[in-house]
Amino acid sequence: MFAKIALSLLSVSAFAGSAIAAPFNPQTQSLNRRYTSFDSWGGLSSLSGFDNFYGSDNFSGEVSTQVIVQQQEVVCQSLSIEVIQQKLLVLQEMAKQIITEQICDVETQTIVFQQYISSSSSFSGDLMHTSGRSAGYDSSLVNYYSSLYNSDGSLSTSDLGFSGSSSGQSVVVPSGNNWNDATSPSSVQSAYQAAQNAISGN
Ligand SMILES: *[C@@H]1O[C@H](CO)[C@@H](O)[C@H](O)[C@H]1NC(C)=O
Repeated sequence: MFAKIALSLLSVSAFAGSAIAAPFNPQTQSLNRRYTSFDSWGGLSSLSGFDNFYGSDNFSGEVSTQVIVQQQEVVCQSLSIEVIQQKLLVLQEMAKQIITEQICDVETQTIVFQQYISSSSSFSGDLMHTSGRSAGYDSSLVNYYSSLYNSDGSLSTSDLGFSGSSSGQSVVVPSGNNWNDATSPSSVQSAYQAAQNAISGN
């Protein structure tokens, strides 16, 4: 009888002790905490320097100022939707290849992919003219596509030598699209809503 009580007291105090002494663990205690820094998050050395790219408290790296460069006029040309979908799928699979082949910590894979989705999604507001930015692309960054792979087809490991702040510094804005100030704000909103309904299955 006494042994049984002593044992349960012991386990209660051991539990209380561990609750008090437990070091802060971001992987279990992150639910209500807003992170401003991901440098070495969860003690992961693979996240060391994460914030240097866009700056701390700037997870999405949403571009605030664009520098428009228009050396020659770039005009959009219509192409089969299937060809467009093929190209975008290639880019998507390349992102998966980089994340799974060149990062070994699954937590880092998870965080960096969320950053990728989040920074890509701000482009919606550019297309719909709600972000204050123009709908275009950084022509300097696009030029690095050939540096992603070695000539034998494997992924390159070289430092490309730029940070997130390069993004938006050489923006080309193609012309020739059908944007109409009077009607497009509502038609792109309908288009966006129809796509959101398709995503959520409504
Ligand atoms: C976040 O990063 C982007 C890309 O470098 C930059 O344009 C923007 O100014 C940054 N925002 C803040 C609040 O630092």
